[in-house]
Amino acid sequence: MCGIVGYIGTEQAAPILLDGLEKLEYRGYDSAGLAVYDGQEIQVMKSVGRLQVLHELSHGGEKLPGTLGIGHTRWATHGSPNNENAHPHFNKDKSIVVVHNGIIENYMKLRKLLLARGYEFVSETDTEVIAHLLDYYYKGDPLEAVLKVMQRVEGSYAFGILFREHPDELYAVRKDSPLIVGKCGHGNIIASDVSAVLKYTRDVYFIQNEEVAKLTKDEIHFYNIDCEELEKESTRIEWDVNAAEKGGYAHFMFKEIHEQPKAVRDTISPRIRDGKIVIEELGMSEEELAAVRKIYIVACGSAYHVGVAGKYVIEGMARIPVEVDLASEFRYRRPILDENTLVIIISQSGETADSLAALREAKRHSGVTVLGIVNVVGSSIAREADHVMYTWAGPEIAVATTKAYSTQLVALYLLAMRFAGVRGTIGEEEMADLIRDLQKLPDQIEMVLANKERLQRFANRYAAAKSVFFIGRGIDYAISLEGSLKLKEISYIHSEAYAAGELKHGTISLIEEGTLVAAIMTQEELYKKTLSNVVEVKSRGAFVMAVTNLGHTDCEKTADYVIYIPKTNPYFTDSLAVIPLQIFAYYVALAKGCDVDKPRNLAKSVTVE
Ligand code: AGP
Repeated sequence: MCGIVGYIGTEQAAPILLDGLEKLEYRGYDSAGLAVYDGQEIQVMKSVGRLQVLHELSHGGEKLPGTLGIGHTRWATHGSPNNENAHPHFNKDKSIVVVHNGIIENYMKLRKLLLARGYEFVSETDTEVIAHLLDYYYKGDPLEAVLKVMQRVEGSYAFGILFREHPDELYAVRKDSPLIVGKCGHGNIIASDVSAVLKYTRDVYFIQNEEVAKLTKDEIHFYNIDCEELEKESTRIEWDVNAAEKGGYAHFMFKEIHEQPKAVRDTISPRIRDGKIVIEELGMSEEELAAVRKIYIVACGSAYHVGVAGKYVIEGMARIPVEVDLASEFRYRRPILDENTLVIIISQSGETADSLAALREAKRHSGVTVLGIVNVVGSSIAREADHVMYTWAGPEIAVATTKAYSTQLVALYLLAMRFAGVRGTIGEEEMADLIRDLQKLPDQIEMVLANKERLQRFANRYAAAKSVFFIGRGIDYAISLEGSLKLKEISYIHSEAYAAGELKHGTISLIEEGTLVAAIMTQEELYKKTLSNVVEVKSRGAFVMAVTNLGHTDCEKTADYVIYIPKTNPYFTDSLAVIPLQIFAYYVALAKGCDVDKPRNLAKSVTVE
């Protein structure tokens, strides 16, 4: 996820671009750049870090004169966050410049073709391929070149493009990445979302998939991929600026909850090819994978909860013993590691101090392989791990993780399946079923999200709760841990997660009339066992909210409130059952008037011990 802005008009472009990028910084903030054209030369300025650095470097845009320009705020995907990889990207003679949001899936193939034709690359990005491909196809007509590039490129993209030979034109293109066009009094503007243009206009045009917009300072023309001109009506935007930045959602957390189908799809789909699990970035041969005798999963907070679920999945599928450790414990407990050990460090930010220290501890043991499962490209954990498997969640702004958690889960499913495939612990037929179920998850998450209103009514009743318990067995225990953390961190209600069978060894004494107990019961084999525990707490006065699989209507006889999730493979139920728990926590916090995105005492990235 990155942010794009473009402007053509009578005003100086750079300040407008910087202003728009500031609204889009939530989409990415590891580097930023501007390209501004004054009719003589296209000048580019880039900087690593937050937009403020570029702001200062360009003196608020003053150093880049010109009334035509494009800007970009980056969330690295291909290549670490540095000046070379920051956008905009030029063709070889600097006559074409481009900014991009999305992922070009066939960029390696295109890069090879272009290298063979003498093109040279200065960055590791997929975007630079576009600048050179435009150069290759450009014969004087920008629109023709843009349409040819669209036909060659696979993946998702939103582009803003300038051509030196056309100082009065700005081009905008999109497929599966957002891009809108706004008409303001002094010119026209493009942006990744409306938040960046609301200061100038409330009338916007939505560019649809595989459409091109050609902007001059007075006109906007739209074309489809066959170069047919399209008529478009503008839409009046009524949102306020703050809501627009959050895509119309009241909070980043709620927006990110709704981004989970896409984030999960983006993490899964590049790793399934021709019905097989392919994790190239693992950098381990089949022999090396087969030689792994033990896996340690080390992480903090929610990422640790992913590890707890991962233990059940990896041990179940691939029959490799897995230990899950809190990074803050692992780093000091002198773990026993050898060359047949794989250490997996899970971290959204890639900067968590304890996780980084745990990684360094693991690397002190010779022969140990360290794999990072990380969301932020180029972060410390990504750089220091032997191999990195990125989760494609995009920037997560809310302190309480939701979409990063969901992508980490599917990353572990993919790993477990890859190990199981290599070790032959899962047969071909079962693997095909697993892949099918995995691919269904994004749509199923969407289905769970559709039932949120009902949950809001329920959550409003429990906003005054003093204490909540989450119980479950096996993977349901892992889900309970995350459900409990979500609730306590944003609503400040005391809550605990217990393995359902453990409750009676002490904690059940805390259950009294009206205590809310969330029972997670998605594991068919353990369903009856947990149901017995539900009966135990009910008979002590608890009010029970159950989360179970579609079809278990018998549950309604015992539990007071039942949430159903669609049927999936038992290994994957965490991905579905965690969604109502996130929504529940969100609505409880909302009802209590808590600061959902920035809960007290917490920080998004914990870079201190
Ligand atoms: C969860 O909602 C929290 N924000 C927190 O537990 C988080 O998962 C933990 O601090 C780990 O962060 P990381 O993934 O960036 O390493």
